[in-house]
Amino acid sequence: MLVLGIESSCDETGLALYDTDKGLLADALFSQVELHEVYGGVVPELASRDHLRRLTPLVRQVMKQAEKSLQDLDAIAYTAGPGLIGALLTGASLARALAFALEIPALGVHHMEGHLLAPLLEAQPPGFPFVALLVSGGHTQLIQVKALGDYQLLGESVDDAAGEAFDKTAKLLDLGYPGGPRLAKLAEAGRPDRFDFPRPMTNRPGLDFSFSGLKTHTLTCVRQLQSQAELSEQDRADIAWAFQDAVVDTLTIKCKRALKQTGYKRLVIAGGVSANLALRERLEKTLKGQGAEVFYPALQYCTDNGAMIALAGALRLQAGQQDSEQLPPLRPRWPLVELPPLKATTQPGENEHA
Ligand code: KG4
Ligand code: ZN
Repeated sequence: MLVLGIESSCDETGLALYDTDKGLLADALFSQVELHEVYGGVVPELASRDHLRRLTPLVRQVMKQAEKSLQDLDAIAYTAGPGLIGALLTGASLARALAFALEIPALGVHHMEGHLLAPLLEAQPPGFPFVALLVSGGHTQLIQVKALGDYQLLGESVDDAAGEAFDKTAKLLDLGYPGGPRLAKLAEAGRPDRFDFPRPMTNRPGLDFSFSGLKTHTLTCVRQLQSQAELSEQDRADIAWAFQDAVVDTLTIKCKRALKQTGYKRLVIAGGVSANLALRERLEKTLKGQGAEVFYPALQYCTDNGAMIALAGALRLQAGQQDSEQLPPLRPRWPLVELPPLKATTQPGENEHA
């Protein structure tokens, strides 16, 4: 089955072609970073307009890359939520119109399920079941994944998402947008022994997170230093290091706890923050000692992309799911656990057990 995947939930236009026999055939991405940079964050109206500009040329680009024509498509998967409503509408409209004209099925995909399944694009995919840490700009969640579509929420952030905390702290350090990767880069020059930031909610049981206090702690630290002198480049790097270390440590503690609670030996990390190398290294090191394995997507599939939507859609379409005749509602907010469970005919890694 050849599936075209369309991602347009926020500030990246992502297109991909996924073949259920041959894997990923092509993918293309246009990032709107330059467009939003001057505003210090994503401007929804501009995002929608730019998706409209990019979508059709990117469809042509992936078709050309894979040497396929529109008539070769068996189905179209698109992000139906969560995300910015106008941005979602652009991808959904194109997907539904194309599917209508080609008389093939379309399927609205949950953006976070896309992230969660992205590590299945890798040569050595994780088998089910596993614990997934979803860390993006809008979500920080620990999910118990028993099978494709069988998701149970173990814990989540009660306030800011991890990516949001990275972005806000980056702003505080005048790093601009997009903050996460820039803060991570700055942290490389930071000295580990200067500041010790709190690890929120790690001293009590449970798997929820809270990052807004850490953000406030960082602000207080910045203000204290600024009351004495202008922040030096080394000050900023030291703060970035301490902030990142606190986030990484907090996420690692909770992941360890989630694996212990479920008895699972596989951890999947996905979403934009899973591109953070310090987080990957810490999790690998910590979990190795416990006989557990960490899986994550290739760097380009950690952040938003069309490949994860094509894959998630293909797995659900293969299991017989598709949009109904009426246009299904787009969902700016959409809890992952509300997705219907399903059994695909073939799932990457399905024969492995915990
Ligand atoms: O998954 P994603 O591309 O979009 C959402 O679904 O939200 O995630 C974007 C988030 C942003 O908050 C960004 O700052 C963060 O992921 N991010 C990072 C890194 N790369 C992206 N955070 C920390 N370190 C990184 N290397
Ligand atoms: Zn995302």
